[in-house]
This record gives sequence, structure tokens and C-alpha cells, in this order.
Amino acid sequence: MKNKPKRYLITSALPYANGPIHIGHLAGVYVPADIYARYLRSKGEDVIFIGGSDEHGVPITIKARKEGVKPQDIVDKYHSIIKKSFEDFGVSFDIYSRTSSETHRKTASDFFRKLYDTGKFIEKTSEQYYDEEAHQFLADRYITGVCPHCGNENAYGDQCEKCGSTLSPMELKNPHSTISGSTPTLRETSHWYLPLNEYEDFFKEWILQNHKEWKTNVYGQCKSWIDLGLQPRAVSRDLDWGVPVPVEGAQGKVLYVWFDAPIGYISNTVELLPEKWEKYWKDDETKLVHFIGKDNIVFHCIVFPAMLKAHGEYILPDNVPANEFLNLEGDKLSTSRNWAVWLHEYLEEFKGKEDVLRYVLCANAPETKDNDFTWKDFQTRNNSELVAVLGNFVNRALVLTAKYFDSKVPAIKQTTDYDNEVLAEIPKIKQNIEAAIETYRFREALKETMNLARLGNKYLADTEPWKMAKTDMERVSTILAISLQICANLTIAIEPFLPFTAQKLLKMLNIPQYKWNCFGKTDLLKQGNSLGKIELLFEKIEDDVIAKQIQKLLDTKKANELNFYKPNELKPNIAFDDFMKNDIRAGTVTDCKKVPKSDKLLQFTINDGTGTRTILSGIAQFYPSPEKLTGTQVCFVANFEPRKILGIMSEGMILSVEDADGKLVLIQPSRKVQNGTSIG
Ligand code: 2FM
Ligand code: ZN
Repeated sequence: MKNKPKRYLITSALPYANGPIHIGHLAGVYVPADIYARYLRSKGEDVIFIGGSDEHGVPITIKARKEGVKPQDIVDKYHSIIKKSFEDFGVSFDIYSRTSSETHRKTASDFFRKLYDTGKFIEKTSEQYYDEEAHQFLADRYITGVCPHCGNENAYGDQCEKCGSTLSPMELKNPHSTISGSTPTLRETSHWYLPLNEYEDFFKEWILQNHKEWKTNVYGQCKSWIDLGLQPRAVSRDLDWGVPVPVEGAQGKVLYVWFDAPIGYISNTVELLPEKWEKYWKDDETKLVHFIGKDNIVFHCIVFPAMLKAHGEYILPDNVPANEFLNLEGDKLSTSRNWAVWLHEYLEEFKGKEDVLRYVLCANAPETKDNDFTWKDFQTRNNSELVAVLGNFVNRALVLTAKYFDSKVPAIKQTTDYDNEVLAEIPKIKQNIEAAIETYRFREALKETMNLARLGNKYLADTEPWKMAKTDMERVSTILAISLQICANLTIAIEPFLPFTAQKLLKMLNIPQYKWNCFGKTDLLKQGNSLGKIELLFEKIEDDVIAKQIQKLLDTKKANELNFYKPNELKPNIAFDDFMKNDIRAGTVTDCKKVPKSDKLLQFTINDGTGTRTILSGIAQFYPSPEKLTGTQVCFVANFEPRKILGIMSEGMILSVEDADGKLVLIQPSRKVQNGTSIG
């Protein structure tokens, strides 16, 4: 924005209400957004900070179906867990609402209707899978089938989790509905699309030309989307959970979750300020900033702005400072694998240590690349930064004042050049923090904030007032007074980052919370004022506490190994006669060797009771010494149609099963049986 904004509208991604909040959400979105909002408030800006739960979408309906409850029950449960954990963590939303609210339904409907009425959509008919037994169209996630790329039999209609390919349901072989198990049929359905292709020139100018200052990761993603060419996007779905499409004859259709969720920012503003909300959304002098994670970039930089532009009355975001991802102990965070540090659990287990997590997540935020959270780093940052630098400085200043001046603020008497140099550093640090926050570099801003405590520590170490207590109390008075003024400045500097600690420190200094414009002053504490009770700002975190958390993760890992390979979905029942068509037998391996020119195949020679047969099996990488299998028994399908592979006739199929690591393990009789015995 060229001119200084009149007001700020800060939004943070609305988390899906189908699971609790974890450190990845916090580091990516809520910690930086909260720092920004607190900083602007401290500067006296007109700012509102919008949050809320995203309560629509297919994953929520899937979870509800799995648990045998209604989607509303799922979102009620998680909305309240999420809301409470944010409150307890000190995220200073001006409102935290939800997209299942009536205000949201109305706002989203009106928005859609405006675009519909002004001809901003195109309507297209396409064929989609339909479950004849459940009488409903199937969302991509409700269809599974064989992945065309890797053969995984349980690939979803939108993605194969085994090989990572993005899929469309039509690509799946042998698709079936996860609702009824039946094979879906294709039916025609019509939907509304936002023709993003019509906005290409606008995006080229608005982002590629006019927003070169956006973070490289954000700008880069936008550029590659635009360069690839934008396509029309469907904004409705055939589903029974969501905001109903407000058009006659659209029964059974709802707004696509990514259409309604960002409108949630607007509806939550309406709920917060029913009379004044438009000023924040429709006035060019508002600065709109979206805090999100990198997986949301396209929706906030392309889709939502296109919606806002199509509507015509709204402003567009000034910036979208998306972060990359935070990993945990080297592995991707995952809700389904429970690989996370959950906020509500942290708050329970680390009572009074909200700021330690806020500090670590900001100091290590994935601002320019993915980063890793480790419990060891958490401990080190607490012990050698918060305790040893910030806590230590404040404690020394207060303890010395208690000792020499009965906890009354002493006077700054005669200052030396060194004192003046130190004092002159304070406004410089202030400027550095401002420059960093205003360009969304929160790690840097936090480092500068800690530099203020470092400055104080160094000042005390250099001047050693305790050595002069007997000889020069005037000097001691000046040094401690300067140190206390640094402490008072710290209450302003740390508030956006460490709001709980700022409160503690204010109490100890017995002063009110000063605004940002007081940062740099050296008379924040009045001479003679009494200080409050001294407490430790931070405590050392011991090894056993960290070991416990690491053990918790190891336990999760173990549990995942046992459960990771979810059993395939059960196939439909078959008749006894159908099963009996399989001729499965046991036989002894008389020879086993690698097939030349193949990494995967082993050539088995098997005594099948009547003679020997050759069977090829793709398990070579799991049995590096195949000769050791000679003499053991295996199970095989004897009437599997013979096939020639690499010039060798294979007469059957050897049975194996996958272990937790995806390795194939032969199925073998637990004691010797007659060769050729049928299995059944
Ligand atoms: O990725 C997510 O968790 C989405 N629920 C974010 C939505 S942001 C906004 F559009 F509401
Ligand atoms: Zn695949």
C-alpha cells in the first residue's frame, strides 16, 4: 500500500473443525498473525483480527460417518476444543466464530447470489460418480479404486496415498463407493464455475507486476499457477453438508468449501461489527492481510481475490505472508498419524509455559523454508535463551535493586559515555523490530527483541555495579536505574511475542502496559516508585521432561508402525463355490534364485506333490539370499493362469503379505505338511 493505511484487517486461516490445533498450525499461521495484531494494537492502529473454524467440507462428513454421528456433532466438538486452546494460548482474536453459523450461511449465500445474478459464473454439466444404493453423488474422497500409476487398490478419487499421484475419480480402475461398497454409475450433474481464466490478465498485473514484494515462496507459487494458465473452478458440490446453493432447483447442492470458507472472514467480521464491518472490507484505506500456510496460497492469492473482484465491492489483500511447513522431529506433521504436538495437550502438560512455545515457534518459524521442531531445541531455547538471557537480566536488575535500594526505583544520576551508548541502542532496536514485523519477518523481529535483553545483560556484566556498592552508590544508582528502564522497555518489546511474560514483568515493575510509542523512553519508571514481588520469568526445563515428550513420540511411532497399513476395505461377499475356484496349495521350495536382469523377481522351483513347477514372484528385494528358502514350504495358487514373464513360464502365484514397513513376507505353513495339500 502506498499510503499509510487507516485500518488493518488481519485474517488467519480458518482451521478445519475435524481435529485439534497442533504446533504446525501455530508456527505457520497463528503465532505470526497474533504478533502482527498485537504489535499494531500497541502502535494504536485501528485493527481487527479475525479467526474462526472452517466447518464444512468432505473430510468432516467422512469423520462423522466413521464415528456414526452427525457432521454438526464433529464440528461442535472440535470448534470448542480449538476455540479454548487458542484462548488459553493467548491468541488475541477479536472474534473466533464458525462457518456453521447463521450469519455465515446468509453472508455466503448473498455473496454467491450476487455473483450468480451478475452473470459471473458459468454453468457446466458433467458426469460424476453416483452411488445408486446410497442415492447420492460421490465426492472424490468417497470413491476408492485401483491407482492407474502404482496399482494401489485403495487409491482415493482425488489422490493415491501410496504413490502420491493426484487423481481424478475417472482415472481409478474398478472404482467403488466407500459408502455402500457398490460400483458407482456415472450421472450427469450441473455445477457453477468461476471462470478464473477470464481473470488471467488481472492476476498478471495485480500480482506479477504490482506485488513483487510478496514473499518469494508466495510470489513463486502464484507465478507458476498463472504461467500454467488458470482454469474455471467449480464452486458448488453435490453434498448434504455445507451452505445450500441459493438457487432454485439446486436441491442437494452446497457451496464448495473453498468458496464458503474465505467468506467466513467476512461473515465473522459482520458478526463482530454488524454496523461497521463494511468499512473494513470495502474501503481502499483498509490494509487486508491474510495469514495462512503454504497449502492455502492458491485459494487466498487467486481464487478468493477472483471472487472478491467478481463481486466488485471488496478490497483485495495487500499481502499474504504464507509460511512453509513445520516438521516434527524430522517427520511431516500428520493429524491422522497423530504425529504432532497438540496445543491442548501442551497447555495441560506445560502449565504456565505458553510463552515458551510461542517463543520457540517464532524463533524457529518456517518463514522461508520448511523447518523442524525438536524437543531438544525447545529445551535449549528455553534454557539458554529465555532463562539465561531474558530471565536472567530481569532477575539481576530487580534483585540488585531490592538489595541496594529496597526495591525502590533509583535515580539516573550522572551518565557516562558508555551509559549513553547503551541508551542510544534502545531506539535502534525498536526500529529494527518495526522494520522486521512490518515486512513479516517475525523471527528477525524476535531476535532483535532478545537483543534488548542481551544489551541489558551485557551492560550489567560490563559495569558490575555489585563491585561498587561500598564505594560509589551514585554510580550503582545510575546503572540500576538504566537497567530497570531497559526492563520497562522490554515490557513493550516482548508483548507481541510473549504476552504472558510481559504481564508478569509489568507486575514486577509495578507499571501499566505502555504503548509502542513509549518504546525508547528512559523514564517509564518513576524514581522512588516501589517495585513488585520478584518472580522468575522462566524456569529451566530439565532433561526428564524432554525425555518424556520424546518417549511419547516414540510410542506414537510404534503404534503407527502397527497400524499404518490400514487393512484394505472388505470386498463384497462371495459364494463358497466362488472361493472353491481357487486352488491354493502348499509345496516345498526345491530351488530359488534371482531372475537375471530383474531386480524384483525370484524364480521358485516348487515340489507341488505331483512334480515340480516354476513360479516367479516379485519379492526379490525382500529376500536377498533366496537360496536360503530352499527346503522351506510356501503357499501358492496352483490354478493361476500360467504367464510368460521375461521368457520364463510362471505357473502359479506365491502368497505373501505386506508388513508394517511395506515389505513382503512369504506366507508359510507353521509346520511341515504334505506337498500339494490344498489350503481352504
Ligand atoms: O487448510 C485449511 O485448514 C482450511 N480449513 C483453511 C481455510 S482458510 C479460509 F479460507 F477459511
Ligand atoms: Zn498410486
